[in-house]
Amino acid sequence: MTTTMQTGHQQFIKRTGDVLDGLIDRGEYKYLETLTSPMGPTATLDKYGEVLVFCSNNYVGLANDPEVVEAGIEGLRTYGAGTASVRFICGTFQAHHDLEETIAEFMGTEAALSFVSCWNANEAIFPTLSEPGDIIISDELNHASIIDGIRLIRKGVKKTVFKHSDMDALRGKLEAVKADPDVTGVTWVVTDGVFSMEGDLADLPGLRTVCDEYGAMLIVDDSHGTGVMGATGRGTHEHYGLPGHAPEGIDFFTGTLGKGLGGGAGGFVAGPKCAMELLIQRARPGLFSNALPCTVACSAKKAIEILMREPQRVQKLRDNTKYAREGIGKAGFEVIESPTAICPIIVGETSKAISMSKRLLELGVFVIGFGFPVVPEGVARLRVQLSAAHTTEHIDELIAALKKL
Ligand SMILES: Cc1ncc(COP(=O)(O)O)c(C=O)c1O
Repeated sequence: MTTTMQTGHQQFIKRTGDVLDGLIDRGEYKYLETLTSPMGPTATLDKYGEVLVFCSNNYVGLANDPEVVEAGIEGLRTYGAGTASVRFICGTFQAHHDLEETIAEFMGTEAALSFVSCWNANEAIFPTLSEPGDIIISDELNHASIIDGIRLIRKGVKKTVFKHSDMDALRGKLEAVKADPDVTGVTWVVTDGVFSMEGDLADLPGLRTVCDEYGAMLIVDDSHGTGVMGATGRGTHEHYGLPGHAPEGIDFFTGTLGKGLGGGAGGFVAGPKCAMELLIQRARPGLFSNALPCTVACSAKKAIEILMREPQRVQKLRDNTKYAREGIGKAGFEVIESPTAICPIIVGETSKAISMSKRLLELGVFVIGFGFPVVPEGVARLRVQLSAAHTTEHIDELIAALKKL
């Protein structure tokens, strides 16, 4: 008798195909567009030609800045592709020290340490620096990399979530900590600085006050705030007039180099020097994985230097955002209000957001639709993101295309 038992491989291929078919049937499948030009206020897509870009985090227009590009090329020439090793075995290039000093200067912290992404930085900070007896209290809408970083923490550290930006809910959690005999160590309160789906800001002064009442540390992932918020783009803390260090300001930052600060890749933890030393000793993403490529380290450092030299880019971004928000509103769309460069236009169903985004592309405007499960059912949206590199004409074209929808 012959059996028709499937091999594990066949079973896997069938199962994966079913999942993908399900995504396509529900209109949730993400098709990746192919770019054939650098990222800027416009870009070329293989299927649509030149389009206006309103979906990039290229907030201050540095992704294809000639100085940023040149610094990357020079970094590649000076240091080659890499050490072909992790930092603690074959050493670390001067380029990484230089980048880390520049990040610390920019953020207003004692020190900084780079990683290949902010995802990695969040996977490094929480499991490495927390100890049994600590508790981590995280905003419910924090980015997935914070959630996953916290998931990696070993046993003995308590974890809990507070209602989004709700100071009373946080106080409730901290009261419970006071009465919890298992919490003998440090209390960590963790938040995004700018929440990427709504574009809203964390109430950092409120969080600092509540943290101080209970002796808690405040950790801010400001990936969408660096280069955007505050008079000189230092981030959400600058917007509120807080310094980048404890005790008056933020205990730790995590952030990305893959958005406003050059847009290539890379992330960092910034805060007290002793913490960076311990991360070098123990953080698994650094111990067991190569450093940021030097070409990226050099281009990101240049991007930060340009931003420090030309803070007017941040004002331009703010002016563009104000102009776009007013225009989108006048065109009859509901935009979630916020001081950030993220303008979510609520459209309802996921499939509607996706079809509107496709139509916009046909009209030469690149805006992405976000639906379930990235945002709750019924509040799917087009997320319009502004850049300092946009001209008024670009924004007028966006609004004209939205009107055609
Ligand atoms: C708040 C936040 N943290 C972390 C990340 C991840 O950044 P990276 O691309 O550097 O891993 C993102 C990117 O979407 C983000 O928005």
